[in-house]
This record gives sequence, structure tokens and C-alpha cells, in this order.
Amino acid sequence: MQVFSAVFLLILTLAITVEAKTCPRECSCDSTKLSTVCVGKNLTEIPPTIEEITVKLDLRNNNLQVLSRGAFLHTPYLTHLNLQRCNIIEIKEGAFRTLGRAVSLNLAHNKIEILYQESFDGLSSLKELHLDHNRIEEIQPGAFTQLSFLNVLALSHNQLVYIPNMAFQGLQNIKWLRLSHNSLNNLAPEAFAGLFTLSRLNLDHNELQFFPTETMTRLREVTRLDMSHNPMIYLGEESVSMAKLTHLYLNHMSLQDLSDKAFSQAPLLTHLDLSHNQLRYLEPPSGPKELTSLNLTGNPIYCNCYMQPLRQWVGVSGVKLLGACSGPPHLSDEPLQAVAPLDLRCRSREGSPVVEEEDEDEDGRVPPTVTVTAKPKQKAKCPANCECDTEAQHATCEGRGHTKIPRGFPAKTQLLDLRVNHFHYLPTNSFPGSGQVVSLHLQFCKIHEIEGGALQGMKNLLYLYLSDNDLRSLDPKAFAGAPRLTYLHLERNRLAQFPGSALSLLPSLSVLHLEENAISKLEASGLPSSVSSKLSELYLSNNNLTVIAKGALDSVSLIALHLDSNQLTEVPTHALLETPNLQEFNLSRNSVHWVGPKAFQPISQSLKRLYMDHMGMEKISRDALLGLGSGLQTLTMRGNQLKELPDLSPLSNLEVVDLRDNPLQCDCSLLPLRRWMENVSLEVAATCGHPPDLRGQKVQDIHIFKSCPENISPPEKTVVDPKVVKSKPNALKSQKVKARPAQPRGKVVKPPRKQPQRKPGTPKITKKKKTLK
Ligand SMILES: *[C@@H]1O[C@H](CO)[C@@H](O)[C@H](O)[C@H]1NC(C)=O
Ligand SMILES: *[C@@H]1O[C@H](CO)[C@@H](O)[C@H](O)[C@H]1NC(C)=O
Ligand SMILES: *[C@@H]1O[C@H](CO)[C@@H](O)[C@H](O)[C@H]1NC(C)=O
Ligand SMILES: *[C@@H]1O[C@H](CO)[C@@H](O)[C@H](O)[C@H]1NC(C)=O
Ligand SMILES: *[C@@H]1O[C@H](CO)[C@@H](O)[C@H](O)[C@H]1NC(C)=O
Repeated sequence: MQVFSAVFLLILTLAITVEAKTCPRECSCDSTKLSTVCVGKNLTEIPPTIEEITVKLDLRNNNLQVLSRGAFLHTPYLTHLNLQRCNIIEIKEGAFRTLGRAVSLNLAHNKIEILYQESFDGLSSLKELHLDHNRIEEIQPGAFTQLSFLNVLALSHNQLVYIPNMAFQGLQNIKWLRLSHNSLNNLAPEAFAGLFTLSRLNLDHNELQFFPTETMTRLREVTRLDMSHNPMIYLGEESVSMAKLTHLYLNHMSLQDLSDKAFSQAPLLTHLDLSHNQLRYLEPPSGPKELTSLNLTGNPIYCNCYMQPLRQWVGVSGVKLLGACSGPPHLSDEPLQAVAPLDLRCRSREGSPVVEEEDEDEDGRVPPTVTVTAKPKQKAKCPANCECDTEAQHATCEGRGHTKIPRGFPAKTQLLDLRVNHFHYLPTNSFPGSGQVVSLHLQFCKIHEIEGGALQGMKNLLYLYLSDNDLRSLDPKAFAGAPRLTYLHLERNRLAQFPGSALSLLPSLSVLHLEENAISKLEASGLPSSVSSKLSELYLSNNNLTVIAKGALDSVSLIALHLDSNQLTEVPTHALLETPNLQEFNLSRNSVHWVGPKAFQPISQSLKRLYMDHMGMEKISRDALLGLGSGLQTLTMRGNQLKELPDLSPLSNLEVVDLRDNPLQCDCSLLPLRRWMENVSLEVAATCGHPPDLRGQKVQDIHIFKSCPENISPPEKTVVDPKVVKSKPNALKSQKVKARPAQPRGKVVKPPRKQPQRKPGTPKITKKKKTLK
């Protein structure tokens, strides 16, 4: 016993001595567990004296702000690292590079905004990564490539709006991905590409308006998907196409209707939660053979004959059905499962499956008590197969297979949503009594003709959405009767000509979208004079433009002109003579091999943003940018064939320059350019294309300039290259504010809903300050 005590004491003393020697003052250390705890000490840096053999490090509640490269160099044996609530704003690339043994990293409750490409480099054993409750709005491509053992990735409660393709590339063992509580409104089709082992995905509490079928179909192994709390209204056929899905949560959305085939490609579904939606009835879902639970709690289910098939199916299949009837009165609050199929009846004259007979009981009598209770919430008149929300002054008949414009909307309706129907043709006076409508949605309606006077009487119309139809031409009187129209969407039609004459009846037109049509030229008389004083944004991207006549764009008010993705072979300088206030000009993806002198002279006083990417540009005149000066903020010439560049030194206020992917010639002629880059405090990542021994090297790193004569004559051969990134910290902000929220192409988007202000975190490398390696 004595001996034992002595030995024990000795060990204790030793332990204390060791501890005292190596445990940082602010921390407490446990040398048997090899853990160090420094919680809530307001530390601004990681204590440098933490013992090297530490495996568990708890630094919660400190004030670290930035995790610099190699921050954990001295503790290479860490397996568990907790950095919650440390006020971390930025993780520098390579911060964790030495932590090859770490299995758990907790970065929750910080202020991280961007996940850089190499933020998590080196964490090759990591199994759990907690990034929830941050401010992440951008995931750069390749951010997770090194995390091949990660099982759980938590990104809930961040500010993601968009998930780009391949965002999670490299997560070869991921099981659970949590993206709840972001502002996601768009997922790229390949957003989850490569996640072959993912079994559980949370996308609840986001802003998804449509079930992202294409994206989800890629997730072959997912068994549990939580999509609840997203503003979806409708699920169409085969929306959910997920071979292994067993649990699907679609509760607390805004579903008004869903196809009986919505789940036909989800054969293994056992649990379907549709609680707290706006469903009034439901057909037996076809497809899932193993369904055991169907939750309809909190839906305004109307228990009449239309519910009979479901009720019968439930009886036969043994599915547990949850929820209650909301009417008719004698069945109100009756649990669905308790109602006998025979009690689900309709009056005999009812034929079509439209469930709007709320005020009548099954005999057609209107009991006085019901009338009294029903009146206050009674909807104002609303056409069959439409929904009218009188409080919000919205009416929608979206995707209900209408072939004629419904009539009889409440007189106060301001937003009329008729998209995704089959109208084919809009006759004169299509919208009688719609004088209060401000926003009219007619996308995806297969419209090929609009008769003169179709909008007659729509004197308050400001927004008209006619995109994604089949219009080949427009009647000159097509827009008669809507003189206040300000925003006109005609993209993705088949217009072969600029619809100038139809626009002449729109003196207030300010923004005109004509992308993805087949317009091949803009003629001199194109823009009617009545429009030319108000039009400020003109979008003609993705047409077939080869010619822009002089005078075609006669508009003093024009601020943004998008001519990208056309077939122009030269900069239409002559046409710019009449657009003296142009600020944004996109010419990318045309075939302009040569840009001559003074190409932008007519707009040199106003131009702020100029885009000339992917034009096959081989040469640009020394004087091409003549006249442009301190006003220009953005200049992009990415992906061209430029070996040399003009003198950019007059452009003293550039915030974004993108010169990547050009075969630049790195010799002394580059010197003025390099000086300029330093001078304007842009951080430049520029790579040489020639000579061969310098290819791929950063312009910043090469030493060739030391041997250059001091005052060589200005550029016959000037060169830069890759991306140049602005170093002023507000570059990112200003760019973000200007950017428009992207809308999923080819999909229907509900404009009136709250649209998050933030822009999609598209992977743009030309953004925030980025240090050169
Ligand atoms: C934490 O440190 C900062 C400065 O590093 C100081 O301003 C602040 O008052 C400290 N907070 C606490 C609670 O000690
Ligand atoms: C059904 O939905 C309600 C409301 O969302 C919920 O409280 C309940 O737990 C759900 N029941 C089952 C069995 O999923
Ligand atoms: C575009 O124009 C070219 C000729 O200028 C023509 O061959 C081609 O068919 C046009 N494409 C479309 C989509 O109109
Ligand atoms: C300019 O046009 C290109 C090519 O169509 C497009 O990718 C890019 O997003 C456009 N940029 C802006 C700012 O509109
Ligand atoms: C650098 O900037 C100064 C003023 O800001 C200007 O006078 C000078 O010409 C610039 N030098 C170069 C090489 O651009």
C-alpha cells in the first residue's frame, strides 16, 4: 500500500510538473487524455505553446477572426478540433494542411463567407465537418476535393442561394449532407454530382420553388430527403425520380396540387409526409408499392367523392393515413382514416374534379350555420380551376391545362399568373375587367399569335412575361391598350425580326428581353422613336445577329446593351454613336477576331463595364480602347487568342479585369503593363503563354523584367494574362449588388414571391481578394 501510494504520488507529481511546463496559461490540459481546453478566453490567436502531442483541442468561444495558413503546424496529432463561436471570418488556404489525422472539425457559429478552393486541404482523414451557422454564400469549385473520408457535412444556416455544378466533388464517402436553412432557390443539374454514397440529404427551409428533379435524380443512393419548408406549389409527373428513396418530407410547403404520378419513379418510398400544405384532395399515388405512412395533417382536405379513390386505396394497401377532413361540415375534423369510403360523396351534378363546392352540403342545401361561418372566408369570384387570393390580390391558374384564357377574376387582381397552359393564341380583348393587373404571366403557354388589342384595357400593366412561347412575329397592335408597360419579356420565342413596330405603342418601355430568339439583324429604323427616350436595358443575347445598322440603336436612355452570343464579326462602333449613355456592354461570344482603333470611342464617357470574352480575338489595336479612362470599372477579355494587349494605363479605376486564358507573350514589352498593374493596386494573377520556358508562370513571379531597359517604347508587344483581381475589398460587394438573381433556365419562376437580394454564389474566381501563390 505504502509503495503503491508513493508510486502514485510520484506519477502525480510528474504529471503536474509536465502539465505546468507545457499547458498554456489560458488553457487547462489533461495529459492522460491528451486534451487541451481553452474555452471562452477571448483568445485572438492560437496559443503557440500547446503541447505537440495534443489530440483534442477545444478552442470554443474565442476571438480568432482569421485562421492563417499553417495555423496548426505545431499540433499535428489533433484528431478533434473545436473552433465553434470563434468569430472566424476567413480561413486561409492551407490553414489545416498539417492536420492529416483530424477526424472531427467544428467551425459552426462563426462568420465565414467563402469556402476557398483550398480551405480544407490536408484534412485527409476528416469524417465530420461542421460549418453550420456561418455566412457562407459561396463555395468555390474544389473546396472539398481532399475530404475523401468525410461522412457528415453540415452547411445548415448559411446564406447559400445557389449550388453550382460539382460543388461537392471529392466527397467519396459522404453519407449525410445538411443544407437546411439557407436561401437556396436554384441547384445546378450537377450540383450533387459525384456523391455516390450519399444516403441522407436535408434541403429544408430554403427557397426552392420547384422540385429539382434533374439534380435529385443523380443521387442514386439517397434514402432520406427532407425538402420541407420550401415554397413549392405543384409537383408534376415524375418529379421525384429517386430509385432508393424511402423517406420523403414535403411538409410545410405550399403545395396546392400534385400529380398522381409525382412519385412514380420513387418505387421504394415508405414514408411520405405531405402535412401542412394546401392540398384539398389527393389521388392514390402511383409508383410506391411499399408505402406505409402518408401524412396529410394540416391540409384543407375536402372529404367528398374525389377523396374516395385514396380512401379505398388506403384500406386495401394498409397505408397509415394521417390527417383530417376540413369539410364538408358534417365530416369536419373527422380523421381521414375513420371516414368510411361510402361517406365520401358528391352531389350528382358534379362532373369535373374541381373541388369548390365548399358552401353546400352533399344534398345541395345550404345550412344557415354553414353560410354564416363560410361567408367571411369565402373567396371572391374566381374562374374554375384557378386560385384567387383576394387578400394578396393574386390569381393563379398556373399549369392547369387551360386552353382559353379564364375569365371572371376578382376586379382587384394585381397579379395574374397564367403560365404553363395551352392558349396557343390570344384573341382581341383577352383580359376584360383586368384593369388593375400590374403583372401578367404567360410563360410556357405555347402562344404563337397575339391578336391586335389582346391586352385591351390593361391600363395598369407594368410587367408582361411572354417568354418561352412560340411567337415568330408580333402584330403591330399586339400591345395596344397597355401604355404603361415597362418590363417586357419575350425571350425564348422564335422571333426572326426585331419587333419594332409593336414596341411603338409602348412609350414607357424600359427593359426589353429578347434573348434566344432568331433575330439576324437590327435595321436603322429598328427602335421606334417613342421608345428611344425611355428604353434603358436591351437584351439580345443568343440571337443570330450579324448586322447592326447605323442608327439601329438610337436611344439616349440606353444603359445596358447585351449583344453577346451572336454572330457579329466586328464591334458595331457606328451603332454606338446614338447610345451616348451606355454603361454596360456585353460582346462576349461573337466572332470578332480583330478590334480596331477607337472601337468604343462613342461611349467612352459613359462606359463602365465592357465584356469581350471568348470572341476568338487575335489582335486588338493599340488604340482600341482610346477614350476610355477612369470611368471603366470592369474589363474582361478572357479566353481569346491575344498575345499582346493595348496600353491599359489610362484605366485607372478598374475594379475587375479578367484576362485569363490568353497566350500572352512574356518579354520586356510586358513591362509597362506590369508596372501598371502594380500602380492601380489590382492584384493580378497573370500567366505567360510564351516563350515556352515561361509558359504557365505568373507574370508576377518572373524576373525577366530586371534585365529590361528602363524606358522601352510603349507596347508593340504588351502582355498580361489570367485573371486579375481587384484588391479593394469593396469589389466583391459592388459586383454582387449589381448582379441579377439568376433564374433557372427553362423552368418556371414565380417572380412575385420574395426574391432574396443575394446573388447566387456562382463560382467566379475573379472576385474577392485572392492572394497569389
Ligand atoms: C476581447 O478582446 C477584445 C480585444 O482583443 C476586447 O476589445 C474585448 O473587450 C474583449 N472581450 C472580453 C469579454 O474580454
Ligand atoms: C404528421 O405530420 C404532423 C404535422 O407535421 C406531425 O406532427 C406528425 O408527427 C406526423 N406524423 C408522422 C407519423 O409522420
Ligand atoms: C443564322 O444565320 C445563318 C446565316 O447568317 C443561317 O445559316 C442560320 O440558319 C441562322 N440560324 C438561325 C437559328 O436562324
Ligand atoms: C456576357 O455574355 C456572356 C456570354 O453570353 C455571358 O456568359 C456573361 O454572363 C455576360 N455577362 C454579363 C455581365 O452580362
Ligand atoms: C502610376 O500612377 C500615377 C498617378 O497615380 C501616374 O502619374 C503614373 O503615370 C502611373 N504609372 C503608370 C506606369 O501607370
